[in-house]
Amino acid sequence: MITEKLEQVIDQVAKELGYDDHFTVIVSNRPELCDYQSDTAFQLAKKYHKAPMVIANEIVNKLQELEQFSSYFHEVSFANPGFINLTLSDEMIQEKLTDMMTHEKFHLKQPEQAKTFVLDYGGPNVAKPLHVGHMRTAIVGESIKRIIQYVGHKTIADVHLGDYGLQIGQVIYGILQDQKNIEDITLEYLEEIYPKMSALCKEDDTVREKCAEITKSLQDGEPTYRALWKVILEISGNDIKRLYRYLDVSFDLWQGESDAYQYIQPTEEILLEKGLLQDSEGAKVVDVKKEDDAKELPPLIWQKSNGAYLYGTTDLATIYEREQRFHPDYICYVVDNRQNLHFEQVFRVSEKAGLTDAKLEFLGYGTVNGEDGKPYKTRSGNTPKLDGLFEQTKEIFLSKKEENKDKSEEDIKKIVNAILKFADLQNSRERDYIFDIHKFSNTVGKTGPYILYTYLRIDKILKQCATPTNLSIQIYNKVDRDLRLKLLELDKVILMAFEDRKPNYIADYIYQLSDLANSFYQNNHLANLEDENKKNDWLYVLTLTNKVLKELLFLIGIEIPTFM
Ligand code: ARG
Repeated sequence: MITEKLEQVIDQVAKELGYDDHFTVIVSNRPELCDYQSDTAFQLAKKYHKAPMVIANEIVNKLQELEQFSSYFHEVSFANPGFINLTLSDEMIQEKLTDMMTHEKFHLKQPEQAKTFVLDYGGPNVAKPLHVGHMRTAIVGESIKRIIQYVGHKTIADVHLGDYGLQIGQVIYGILQDQKNIEDITLEYLEEIYPKMSALCKEDDTVREKCAEITKSLQDGEPTYRALWKVILEISGNDIKRLYRYLDVSFDLWQGESDAYQYIQPTEEILLEKGLLQDSEGAKVVDVKKEDDAKELPPLIWQKSNGAYLYGTTDLATIYEREQRFHPDYICYVVDNRQNLHFEQVFRVSEKAGLTDAKLEFLGYGTVNGEDGKPYKTRSGNTPKLDGLFEQTKEIFLSKKEENKDKSEEDIKKIVNAILKFADLQNSRERDYIFDIHKFSNTVGKTGPYILYTYLRIDKILKQCATPTNLSIQIYNKVDRDLRLKLLELDKVILMAFEDRKPNYIADYIYQLSDLANSFYQNNHLANLEDENKKNDWLYVLTLTNKVLKELLFLIGIEIPTFM
């Protein structure tokens, strides 16, 4: 990492000056002045009773005395009131870029020991249609998985289907009312019956109770209900798989809440042993309050008074299972922010009971809103189903240009994916965002199509020219230098995206890199260029740029079509 290298150089001279401290280096806030900067002098002022300016000055002077100064730096200087400004030498830039080009994964530092991450994302509910919100957990989760793998860790992705909840009882109730034969249950039927029954339950308490009873009997193993449940699971599960296939989202485990039931018993034993289960009006609960809580956290309900288990029970039993089977180092949940409280309760119970040594992480995501700032709805006022959204995106893209209609289905699918994923992943995951499908389908601006255009345009140039050999140390103009410097930021960006579990850092970087690459080839014409060295160097930089773009696009789940 270039910043690490610069930090080492400064730390070394600082040490010689008697500062036994670590100097941090960041990308410059004022690129017109320098490439990188260190603000550490400000933090040391108090400790050494010296003005930051004095410390910065000392460091700069000492750096300038270095024998290797000119191979590291073009210039170092200090600026009021205590900044250390660093401008890299062309040699340093050349050395780092060559290093990136000639190593796998651009020479990203791999961890000494690979950790195991269980990732819980997707979480669709069987028999309910998937909507925009489910797309978010799927694509954010998939991207986080790819980033973790790229950085060198092990992942186990589990879809954790909602396959045992009240919606199943409601659908079974509907099937029984309609006297449907098992063979006649279809996807269309399920899509019709669920909203009907869900509405009915809201109006009619007796129906609601009946549906809850069915759900409970199903969980207790009632054979007729189980037979129906299996059919529902099969049909709805196949459709869910089809949608994920379209989004190129995949899982190692297709487990669900129902799979947790066999682990409830052993988990309960641990809770009993630790004296954590309390009786509360016939229900069994676990107290999770902490003294310094700003607001009081309600207890987690382990089992209702009628014997039914709940969402928290299955989540805890699943933690138990994951610990037994995988001994993970981390279990990460990519779930709607609104489930924050639920997971806080679950994590606290897990900690009290010592169910796992893994670090439990809640990776919340915000709501996808319409232009009115309310949760995204179709024109007719419904929450759009994922299928509809894919279709709508496709139509809008096709309507942009006459030639778009000539594209292959495969390319269109890739472009639709790029539109949707880049729209989503450029936002910090915990934030809500406004889904403006027209804006996100444009070929200019911060959009998937813009990135794809950039990539393909560069690719076309590269295919017309010879493969570049070594990179010389010369840099020819400002855009050239800017693009090279941006490339040097790569490993830091990937590692930060990993640390914070935030794909938007990658999406942002992809955009910045594409933007620079665009200016690069608009200003630096390669065709008919007589200077062979220059041509070779520029091809080298563009080759590296596209290599980076391609691997990063993979990390956010975007594939490149054959043409745009
Ligand atoms: N099925 C849940 C829902 O739609 C999400 C599941 C999230 N994962 C979990 N382990 N609870 O709200």
